[in-house]
Amino acid sequence: MNFPKDFVWGVAASSYQIEGAAREDGRGECTWTRFSHTPGKVKDGDTGDVACDHYHRYPEDIALMRDLGVHSYRFSVSWPRILPTGRGMVNEAGLDFYSRVVDALLAEGIQPAATLYHWDFPQALEDQGGWTNPDSVKWFVDYADVVTRALGDRVKFWVDFNEPWCSSMLGYLFGQHAPGVQDAVKAYRAAHHLMLAHGAVVPVIRQNSPGAQVGITLNPVPQLPATSSPEDIRLAWQADGFANRWFFDPVFKGSYPMDMVKLLGETLDGLDLDAVQSAAVPTDFLGINYYMRWLIEAIPGRPGEWGSTLPEGAELTAMGWEVYPQGLTDMLVRVHRETSVPAIYVTECGAAYPEAAAPVNGIYEDPKRVAFLKGYLNGAALAIQQGVPLKGFYVWSLLDNFEWAHGYEKRFGIVHVDFATQKRTLKRSALYFKDVIRNGAA
Ligand code: FCB
Repeated sequence: MNFPKDFVWGVAASSYQIEGAAREDGRGECTWTRFSHTPGKVKDGDTGDVACDHYHRYPEDIALMRDLGVHSYRFSVSWPRILPTGRGMVNEAGLDFYSRVVDALLAEGIQPAATLYHWDFPQALEDQGGWTNPDSVKWFVDYADVVTRALGDRVKFWVDFNEPWCSSMLGYLFGQHAPGVQDAVKAYRAAHHLMLAHGAVVPVIRQNSPGAQVGITLNPVPQLPATSSPEDIRLAWQADGFANRWFFDPVFKGSYPMDMVKLLGETLDGLDLDAVQSAAVPTDFLGINYYMRWLIEAIPGRPGEWGSTLPEGAELTAMGWEVYPQGLTDMLVRVHRETSVPAIYVTECGAAYPEAAAPVNGIYEDPKRVAFLKGYLNGAALAIQQGVPLKGFYVWSLLDNFEWAHGYEKRFGIVHVDFATQKRTLKRSALYFKDVIRNGAA
């Protein structure tokens, strides 16, 4: 299937997952450093202390991108590298690092796409409540102001937040991500402040980076009833409220979904829900990270509770996520129908599969990832055919990297990383993606 001529082909990564250099050049502690060093939180006790050592090896990694022909690189800025205690003193060495990365990208004709917050929150501010503290809105805007003043002349594509559902719900409700809190009241406070921070930061970015495209990245997950029973249908809509509408409605309508407000009841006590009106700032694009769908079913014997299941015979990635490219098409069509956003980018899509034993003729064979990408790229092309203003697609990820609570075991890269030597080796999927870019077709 063919893509429009000006379609943006990119690869994505994030600071904590690849940079390493956790204690270098003045970087402050982040919640993921603290969390990963807490026994039992991350698989095999892995941490991002070294990760892919991208902090030192970025020239090699950018050369890889150039060789693949990618048009754009989506990376994130580490807040505590810029502001070691989260606010106040600016660490010039941190700004210099991103400035060098941006210049190196531009020298190769690769457009930098920068995310301001991809989960490495300053520990010093977490100690003051993190995103549950109403001051977090101001902390974030001040940090974003510093970064966009320094890089805004050269970076012309900004994502403020990556997946606020994960920051709030995985971080403060389920506790699977840093800071590892399990408290519904705190989770919804955090989500609320993330939405307010989105509304507050967009004009600041625009001011500091004239002509830039500014947007947010959400991670919608289709919530489909597992059966046609009225209870599953009802619960699937609730699950949609929890995973999708709780974030889409603020960003695009300036309000929370009323059915969910009712359901959550006193969990929301003390929050000024009307204030979320300010989250509905016009943006230039919406970023969508797409990985999976959930099939929702009632839990027998526990009225009103739901769980997610998989269809019989589903094909799964190493994460246990179902391979179902039509879900991407359907979600893009829905988002386009329900929002007025002028452009959509898939800011992440990709898959983890077990590592091949050894490279053959210098290439790691990863046929499943090739098939996965082909399927999802076709899913994206079908959405364009149906009128969705999809402008680009970023593969997650360039490199195998630190997959949060799963550590280094789950490999998402189209380029293999040997974490003992830091050697990078292409996988077949990287060559496949190179062909896609060259031909403008998947
Ligand atoms: C997304 C995250 C990204 C990566 C992928 C697999 O939720 O944004 O950092 O971990 O999942």
